[in-house]
Amino acid sequence: MKLSRRNFLKLSGSAAGSASVVGWAGTAVAQPDGEAAGRATLDYPREEIGRAGDLTTGEAVSFTYPDGSSPCAVIKTGEPVPGGAGPDGDIVAYSVLCTHMGCPVSYDRQAGVFKCPCHFSIFDPHRLGQQVSGQATVDLPRIELEYNESTDTLTAVSVLGLIAGRQANVL
Ligand code: FES
Repeated sequence: MKLSRRNFLKLSGSAAGSASVVGWAGTAVAQPDGEAAGRATLDYPREEIGRAGDLTTGEAVSFTYPDGSSPCAVIKTGEPVPGGAGPDGDIVAYSVLCTHMGCPVSYDRQAGVFKCPCHFSIFDPHRLGQQVSGQATVDLPRIELEYNESTDTLTAVSVLGLIAGRQANVL
Protein backbone atom coordinates (compact mmCIF):
# COMPACT_ATOMS: atom_id res chain seq x y z
CA MET A 1 0.00 0.00 0.00
CA LYS A 2 1.32 3.39 -0.92
CA LEU A 3 0.85 6.13 1.67
CA SER A 4 0.15 9.66 0.64
CA ARG A 5 2.25 12.35 2.36
CA ARG A 6 -0.88 13.55 4.13
CA ASN A 7 -1.72 10.07 5.53
CA PHE A 8 1.88 9.47 6.49
CA LEU A 9 1.92 12.67 8.55
CA LYS A 10 -1.40 11.74 10.13
CA LEU A 11 -0.11 8.30 11.15
CA SER A 12 3.19 9.72 12.47
CA GLY A 13 1.25 12.17 14.56
CA SER A 14 -0.90 9.49 16.13
CA ALA A 15 2.17 7.32 16.85
CA ALA A 16 3.82 10.21 18.63
CA GLY A 17 0.59 10.77 20.51
CA SER A 18 0.50 7.13 21.69
CA ALA A 19 4.08 7.29 22.84
CA SER A 20 3.36 10.24 25.04
CA VAL A 21 0.38 8.40 26.58
CA VAL A 22 2.58 5.40 27.50
CA GLY A 23 5.05 7.70 29.25
CA TRP A 24 8.33 6.85 30.95
CA ALA A 25 8.34 4.41 33.85
CA GLY A 26 11.59 5.68 35.47
CA THR A 27 11.90 8.18 38.26
CA ALA A 28 12.69 11.76 37.38
CA VAL A 29 16.25 12.82 38.22
CA ALA A 30 16.33 15.65 40.72
CA GLN A 31 17.67 18.81 39.16
CA PRO A 32 19.54 21.48 41.10
CA ASP A 33 17.52 24.64 41.28
CA GLY A 34 18.15 28.29 41.91
CA GLU A 35 21.75 29.26 42.48
CA ALA A 36 23.13 25.69 42.08
CA ALA A 37 21.67 25.16 38.60
CA GLY A 38 24.35 24.84 35.93
CA ARG A 39 27.28 24.99 38.35
CA ALA A 40 30.28 22.81 37.61
CA THR A 41 31.93 23.05 41.03
CA LEU A 42 30.92 21.77 44.46
CA ASP A 43 30.69 23.61 47.77
CA TYR A 44 33.54 22.15 49.78
CA PRO A 45 33.77 22.47 53.56
CA ARG A 46 36.59 24.52 55.04
CA GLU A 47 38.39 22.32 57.54
CA GLU A 48 41.39 23.28 59.59
CA ILE A 49 43.81 20.35 59.47
CA GLY A 50 46.60 21.54 61.76
CA ARG A 51 49.57 23.83 62.24
CA ALA A 52 52.33 24.02 59.63
CA GLY A 53 54.93 24.22 62.42
CA ASP A 54 53.89 20.79 63.71
CA LEU A 55 54.82 19.02 60.46
CA THR A 56 58.16 17.26 60.05
CA THR A 57 59.86 17.38 56.66
CA GLY A 58 59.34 14.15 54.73
CA GLU A 59 56.72 12.74 57.08
CA ALA A 60 53.14 12.12 55.90
CA VAL A 61 50.39 12.96 58.37
CA SER A 62 46.89 11.49 57.94
CA PHE A 63 43.61 13.37 58.01
CA THR A 64 40.23 13.03 56.29
CA TYR A 65 38.63 15.45 53.84
CA PRO A 66 36.03 16.44 52.62
CA ASP A 67 34.33 13.86 54.85
CA GLY A 68 35.26 11.12 57.28
CA SER A 69 35.41 8.39 54.65
CA SER A 70 38.02 10.10 52.51
CA PRO A 71 41.53 9.43 53.86
CA CYS A 72 44.19 11.98 52.92
CA ALA A 73 47.80 12.77 53.77
CA VAL A 74 49.61 16.06 54.19
CA ILE A 75 53.36 16.25 53.58
CA LYS A 76 55.98 18.92 54.17
CA THR A 77 58.31 18.26 51.25
CA GLY A 78 61.12 20.52 52.42
CA GLU A 79 61.28 22.49 49.14
CA PRO A 80 58.82 24.76 47.34
CA VAL A 81 56.55 22.69 45.10
CA PRO A 82 53.70 23.46 42.67
CA GLY A 83 50.52 23.98 44.67
CA GLY A 84 52.52 24.10 47.91
CA ALA A 85 51.14 25.99 50.91
CA GLY A 86 52.65 27.13 54.21
CA PRO A 87 55.40 29.67 54.95
CA ASP A 88 57.81 27.93 52.55
CA GLY A 89 55.33 26.79 49.90
CA ASP A 90 56.36 23.19 50.55
CA ILE A 91 53.24 21.67 52.11
CA VAL A 92 50.90 19.58 49.95
CA ALA A 93 48.03 17.22 50.61
CA TYR A 94 46.41 14.44 48.61
CA SER A 95 43.67 11.85 48.76
CA VAL A 96 45.44 8.58 49.48
CA LEU A 97 42.98 6.44 47.56
CA CYS A 98 44.70 5.18 44.41
CA THR A 99 42.97 6.40 41.26
CA HIS A 100 43.22 2.94 39.69
CA MET A 101 40.92 0.95 41.99
CA GLY A 102 40.92 2.79 45.29
CA CYS A 103 43.57 0.95 47.33
CA PRO A 104 45.18 3.17 49.96
CA VAL A 105 48.59 4.35 48.81
CA SER A 106 51.42 4.87 51.28
CA TYR A 107 54.13 7.49 51.31
CA ASP A 108 57.67 6.24 50.72
CA ARG A 109 59.72 8.84 52.54
CA GLN A 110 63.01 7.74 51.01
CA ALA A 111 61.79 7.92 47.41
CA GLY A 112 59.46 10.87 48.10
CA VAL A 113 56.52 9.26 46.28
CA PHE A 114 53.20 7.60 47.04
CA LYS A 115 53.14 3.88 46.23
CA CYS A 116 50.12 1.67 45.75
CA PRO A 117 50.51 -1.87 47.13
CA CYS A 118 47.77 -3.36 44.93
CA HIS A 119 49.05 -2.91 41.36
CA PHE A 120 52.16 -0.82 42.00
CA SER A 121 51.13 2.61 40.74
CA ILE A 122 53.39 5.46 41.83
CA PHE A 123 52.40 9.13 42.28
CA ASP A 124 54.64 12.17 42.77
CA PRO A 125 53.50 14.63 45.47
CA HIS A 126 56.19 17.10 44.34
CA ARG A 127 54.46 17.37 40.94
CA LEU A 128 50.78 17.84 41.77
CA GLY A 129 50.23 14.14 42.48
CA GLN A 130 51.22 13.16 38.96
CA GLN A 131 50.93 9.48 38.11
CA VAL A 132 54.45 8.25 37.41
CA SER A 133 53.98 4.57 36.62
CA GLY A 134 51.66 1.61 37.10
CA GLN A 135 48.05 0.84 36.32
CA ALA A 136 46.55 4.19 37.31
CA THR A 137 46.02 6.68 34.50
CA VAL A 138 44.84 9.61 36.60
CA ASP A 139 46.81 11.75 39.07
CA LEU A 140 46.04 11.61 42.79
CA PRO A 141 43.38 14.17 43.74
CA ARG A 142 45.06 17.15 45.40
CA ILE A 143 43.60 18.73 48.50
CA GLU A 144 43.79 22.49 48.10
CA LEU A 145 45.23 24.11 51.22
CA GLU A 146 45.08 27.67 52.51
CA TYR A 147 47.65 28.96 54.97
CA ASN A 148 46.95 31.51 57.69
CA GLU A 149 50.21 33.21 58.57
CA SER A 150 48.97 34.76 61.81
CA THR A 151 47.85 31.43 63.31
CA ASP A 152 50.22 29.15 61.32
CA THR A 153 47.22 26.97 60.45
CA LEU A 154 46.47 25.02 57.28
CA THR A 155 42.88 24.75 56.10
CA ALA A 156 41.62 22.28 53.47
CA VAL A 157 39.28 24.12 51.12
CA SER A 158 38.66 21.86 48.10
CA VAL A 159 39.58 18.69 46.23
CA LEU A 160 41.16 19.04 42.79
CA GLY A 161 40.23 15.77 41.11
CA LEU A 162 37.71 13.02 41.73
CA ILE A 163 38.28 10.78 44.75
CA ALA A 164 38.50 7.11 43.69
CA GLY A 165 35.19 5.26 43.66
CA ARG A 166 32.99 8.34 43.83
CA GLN A 167 30.67 10.07 41.41
CA ALA A 168 31.11 13.34 43.26
CA ASN A 169 33.43 14.36 46.09
CA VAL A 170 30.73 15.92 48.26
CA LEU A 171 27.30 14.33 48.37
S1 FES B 1 44.58 0.10 43.02
FE1 FES B 1 46.45 1.15 42.91
S2 FES B 1 47.42 0.39 41.18
FE2 FES B 1 45.57 -0.70 41.26
